[in-house]
Amino acid sequence: MSPTIQFDAEGQLKHFLTIEGFTQAHLTKILNTAESFVSMSQQQVQKFPLLRGKTIVNLFFENSTRTRSTFELAASRLSADVLNIDIATSSTKKGESLLDTIRTLEAMHIDMFVVRHALSGAAHFIAQHTSPHISVINAGDGQHAHPTQAMLDMFTIRQHKPDFSQLKIAIIGDILHSRVARSQIQALNILGAKEVRVIAPQTLLPAQVETLGVTAWHDMELGLNDIDVIMMLRLQTERMNSAFLATESEYFKCFGLTTEKLKLAKPDAIVLHPGPINRGLEIASEVADGKQSLILQQVNNGIAVRMAILSLAMQAQGI
Ligand code: NCD
Repeated sequence: MSPTIQFDAEGQLKHFLTIEGFTQAHLTKILNTAESFVSMSQQQVQKFPLLRGKTIVNLFFENSTRTRSTFELAASRLSADVLNIDIATSSTKKGESLLDTIRTLEAMHIDMFVVRHALSGAAHFIAQHTSPHISVINAGDGQHAHPTQAMLDMFTIRQHKPDFSQLKIAIIGDILHSRVARSQIQALNILGAKEVRVIAPQTLLPAQVETLGVTAWHDMELGLNDIDVIMMLRLQTERMNSAFLATESEYFKCFGLTTEKLKLAKPDAIVLHPGPINRGLEIASEVADGKQSLILQQVNNGIAVRMAILSLAMQAQGI
């Protein structure tokens, strides 16, 4: 997939489909823009007129709680009109093709699609086929990418540990099926993280995972040593078409994050998880609800980071 489609002729963000192809300066601009929305919200400014008169369509072909609602809140705080298409009751259920759905919505003079789809490449496909004035934001496509999630994770890390060049990060769990992990790895490498480790059973690692810019570990006891940031992942059982695990209890014993295992990382290590979390499967409740956990802060940061991405993408349209 060509990342160049993401920028307009002036080099402005047009679509946000993948972290690939972004520079450190691009990512820092997104983080700084999100930071300014957080500061303004702290001064009781909740609504900004930046996208007044614009219409954003949330097109979610897969279930979502956090991503969809924070996109919706982000759009409404920027004063855009938001259209949530409920795919379960839409015409796609009557056999309408993706392109016909897009054309139908385009006829309503919309300005942006926020797309989640089970197929890798779906958001890219829409960006290639939609009218030139429309921006497309990828809210998760198959196992490929989830760039806005990676950016809110980077934002949350930066709030606590601002210098990426000092950080050793461990991403733990179902790397194989995770679009989040792919985008996180790209973002961490672009932002200059000192070391990115993935810790997982061999069956849940993609082939040649090192080529993504990580080191691979199969043992939490070793892999957590000296770690500043722990990023847990959900077991994506809905994407597993054969047996990837012995048993769930065995998985939790080896790769679940418990209070004891957390002690193997640095004492001030922070814990992230994109959600939804499976308590007792990949993370113990005491850790998920504990002092080092930033899971709910990630959700909250999703609003400011998505406001940043929506407003930057609309700038390419000359707002
Ligand atoms: C992630 C997703 O949908 O890819 N969740 C999210 O966006 N908050 C991760 C997951 O579903 O496990």
